[in-house]
Amino acid sequence: MALDTRSIYITALKNTHALEMQALQIMERQIERLERYPEMEEALRRHVEETHAQRQRLEEALGSLSESPSTIKEGILGFVGNMMALGHTPAQDEILKNTYANHAFENFEIAAYESLLAIAEAAGQGGHTSSFQQSRREEQAMASRAHDLTRPTTRRSVELTAAGEKADR
Ligand SMILES: [Fe+2]
Repeated sequence: MALDTRSIYITALKNTHALEMQALQIMERQIERLERYPEMEEALRRHVEETHAQRQRLEEALGSLSESPSTIKEGILGFVGNMMALGHTPAQDEILKNTYANHAFENFEIAAYESLLAIAEAAGQGGHTSSFQQSRREEQAMASRAHDLTRPTTRRSVELTAAGEKADR
């Protein structure tokens, strides 16, 4: 069955919106649990703010096409979602699993925006290109922040564990 490019674009907008809603859940859950990793907590808090703006950009694009975000909570994350779920299992290395998962998740989002931009172009829908480029830049910044936090977070985890202190989150 052939679909017109406008429908393909609308589906991509809805999927990306569902992705951002999952992002918010994942980050808020971590923020609630984090106790001993203030740098990670701060990075997540800042990115939650950005993610709300990203969600709004997608809602505006949908609204401009007389569409609204899907109310069905699509699980579009697949294996990344499984990886994220690992971080919710209480474990001594919870912080490490979340660190890896955050890194993976932000890179997943970069790909999602790159794809969305290509679909918008194919559909001749250039109206929101610059706002999605802005979202993609924010994902890139958060991906590199997640990368840069990997070593200090791991070192702190090792230090706390070696000192017999609470190190898991
Ligand atoms: Fe993100």
